[in-house]
Amino acid sequence: MSYIVNEKCIGCKHTTCVDVCPVDCFYEGPDMLVIDPDVCIDCGVCVPECPEDAIVEEDESFEWYQFNKEKSLIWPNITQSK
Ligand code: SF4
Ligand code: F3S
Repeated sequence: MSYIVNEKCIGCKHTTCVDVCPVDCFYEGPDMLVIDPDVCIDCGVCVPECPEDAIVEEDESFEWYQFNKEKSLIWPNITQSK
């Protein structure tokens, strides 16, 4: 079970989540980030870093799981907060 980013990130894009990820599996779109669920190791350390509670377990929403999976293949990797 991996984690994904949901709609609460849209327009916020706080980016503190990326600093703690040990496998650098965040990807940056124009108004939000996503997680590559195939690379995420389910460590959970990014979850409390998000002030919007936008990082949730993948089984919370199949729609957002698919969105994260799809966009992580297209959007650029982000490994440092900004
Ligand atoms: Fe990265 Fe861990 Fe968050 Fe997955 S749960 S995105 S591996 S920090
Ligand atoms: Fe988005 Fe939260 Fe990260 S708002 S960029 S998931 S810290």
